[in-house]
Amino acid sequence: MSNYQAPSQRRISISDLAAMKRRGEKWSMITCYEQMMAQIFDEAQIPVLLVGDSAGNNFLGEENTIPVTVDQMVMLTSAVVRGSRRAMVVADFPFGSYEKSPKQALATGVRLFKEAKCHAIKLEGGKKVVPQIKKLIAAGIPVMGHLGLTPQSVHALGGFKVQGRGDDAQRIMKDAKALEAAGVFAIVLELVPAELATAIAQELTIPIIGIGAGNGTDAQVIVWTDLMGLTQTPPKFAKAYRDLRSEILGGVQEWATDVASGAFPAEAQTFH
Ligand code: KIV
Repeated sequence: MSNYQAPSQRRISISDLAAMKRRGEKWSMITCYEQMMAQIFDEAQIPVLLVGDSAGNNFLGEENTIPVTVDQMVMLTSAVVRGSRRAMVVADFPFGSYEKSPKQALATGVRLFKEAKCHAIKLEGGKKVVPQIKKLIAAGIPVMGHLGLTPQSVHALGGFKVQGRGDDAQRIMKDAKALEAAGVFAIVLELVPAELATAIAQELTIPIIGIGAGNGTDAQVIVWTDLMGLTQTPPKFAKAYRDLRSEILGGVQEWATDVASGAFPAEAQTFH
């Protein structure tokens, strides 16, 4: 009996993403932290849902990504996996869950694979995390890299600044090649000059996913709350396609006014 499943009956795989790069098809990845948004993004046929540790500042009320724990990532990721059927779900490794050793990285990967049932993981860093990446891949866990502005190092980088300008471009190019050689299936490039991101996308055979990196990459990733106008101070590189903050505010205010006036619940919402 064959295990083959047509693409319409199964989730997007790393081979599908590699094939899209070969065909020159651009694709999108969006952050997701919960079941209902996962259902909507899946219906929109977004191929990859990233349970980013950006959940820290976009879902959990933290100042940044640093306080996010593995337990929180397991809970959020499992909701996204349950809410989706077609998308590949990628879970972020939070700060402190992989830096110590390849053994620590594997333990985190095993939890996200077994408990949250994600399909790949993402971790931040260049050459220094290559041993961790090799350990994870050897265990059968696909790894996505993340270079440029790596939010878990925001204090060491001196803030949310563009990375890879001038001579620093060579460092990021070398890191990207080291990650590709280690076996990652894709790399996120955050907040780097468009020229550098384009050069990396052209030089490497794996998909390069940009955020604040111009439009010369193979794919784009966005934080969904930035895209839908929920974030109060969105980054410059994000474009809001809707204003959900105003929509939700207006709806809730209307309901509360109706409750106060006695207009809600009306006959249609009442049992006898
Ligand atoms: O945590 C996250 O959402 C991310 C993306 C911004 C790439 O790492």
